Amino acid sequence: MTSAPVLPAGAAGSGNARERARQLDRDDELGLLRDEFNIPTKGQIASTSLPEGSSANNNDSDTTTKCIYLCGNSLGLQPRRTQTRLSQYLSTWATQAVQGHFKPLTNSPLPTWLDVDERAAEMIAPIVGAHVSEVAIMQTLTANLHLLMSAFYKPDANKRHKIILESKAFPSDHFAVETQLRHHGLDASKSMVLLKSERSRDNILTTEEICGVIDQHKEDAFLLLLPGIQYYTGQLFDIETITTYAKERGIFVIWDLAHAVGNVELRLHEWGVDAAAWCSYKYLNGGPGCIGGMFVHENNSAVTKLITDERPEEGYNHRLAGWWGNDKKSRFGMENRFHPVKGAAGFQLSNPSVLDITSLCASLEVFEQAGGMGKLREKSLRLTKFLEEQLEGMGEEEKGLFRVITPLDPKQRGAQLSLGLGSGLLEGVMKELERQGVIVDERRPDVIRVAPAPLYNGFEDVVGFVEAFGEALRVARRERDAF
Ligand SMILES: Cc1ncc(COP(=O)(O)O)c(C=O)c1O
Repeated sequence: MTSAPVLPAGAAGSGNARERARQLDRDDELGLLRDEFNIPTKGQIASTSLPEGSSANNNDSDTTTKCIYLCGNSLGLQPRRTQTRLSQYLSTWATQAVQGHFKPLTNSPLPTWLDVDERAAEMIAPIVGAHVSEVAIMQTLTANLHLLMSAFYKPDANKRHKIILESKAFPSDHFAVETQLRHHGLDASKSMVLLKSERSRDNILTTEEICGVIDQHKEDAFLLLLPGIQYYTGQLFDIETITTYAKERGIFVIWDLAHAVGNVELRLHEWGVDAAAWCSYKYLNGGPGCIGGMFVHENNSAVTKLITDERPEEGYNHRLAGWWGNDKKSRFGMENRFHPVKGAAGFQLSNPSVLDITSLCASLEVFEQAGGMGKLREKSLRLTKFLEEQLEGMGEEEKGLFRVITPLDPKQRGAQLSLGLGSGLLEGVMKELERQGVIVDERRPDVIRVAPAPLYNGFEDVVGFVEAFGEALRVARRERDAF
């Protein structure tokens, strides 16, 4: 583990480290954003019932201490303003009913429901580095991957038909690719190319390895589907280099940005990414199962024919369509002739859930308050580096019980560090962390993922986690060795 330290050394979990962490938190210009979030108390996360009263953030009588939440890679915390925006939405529905679709209310910060998707696109575009017309807030991640493939994956079994993806892709991506191939009557064993590292047992893939596989299949690969950040290892791929390399060889490139969006800086337009999809419940804090998003590069969404043309279907690339993707001017004309909106919005199917979008946009307001992804990433780099250093500073005995799987090069990771535990320790570690009010997530058989999110985590969270983790390792080892 080499690279410039965030801080002069202070033994992990020592008073010294905590003092320094507090100082870093005091100096943090984004530190106040923590107050924008509902951080559960230790009492709340231990409780098996809803709190009395309507507020999710009731003061616990026995403990008002916040839990240590390092799990934004799985589910982001709830912004406080989500409740306000949702009750404004509910109030609009209650008092305006169908008029909510088109009637602006003078004192409401919310757009009319007909415009809600456009407002969301404006807010997400800077987060993914796209033109507003290149993004659509719609559906969910896996559905969007299917929709993108339905639009852009047009295989020819005798020429280009293969899809390249990782061998350890998130199962939903694997299933989506496998079933797309079957849908086209192709044999997955022949048309699916699985990227597997020759040198890393954790399947940390170098850019060279990926480009090597692209070269091997440059004649017959149609599509490359990769995650911006790998969910298990936390590896951040070089999206720009890989995209350029694949495209120069005639391969269409789609990125799954589930773990990258709201986590690292993205420049999808500038990097020439063909298309991408993401969910909004992780670093975007939209809430569980919240609406997803899609990017389609402007080069891929042209509509070349006028709406009055006799054969409008020839003026755009084919896709699975619905009325919400139809040009707004003619959408309500109720004609059975599909003419898509130019841009990503032309890939929408249904009118979107306003409930979902309202929830997502409440969180995107906090991103605006943060001043954009540049500032967040800058803090995130320091925070994760600090976590790495505190782990490195643990006692030799504890360090012998885990290893960091995520690349140590900060350019190759986002907020998350994945820690591989010694065999038989996972259950005991998770139980002890939970007992101490520390929330991280687990991936069986023996990995925990720890993700300090710069919007609401601070340096003291990291020190608290490392202290608890040391204790959890000792307890888990004792329990394991007692059997
Ligand atoms: C990398 C990745 N791909 C796909 C998915 C599936 O997302 P969804 O259930 O929103 O389709 C997830 C969910 O966590 C994920 O992490």
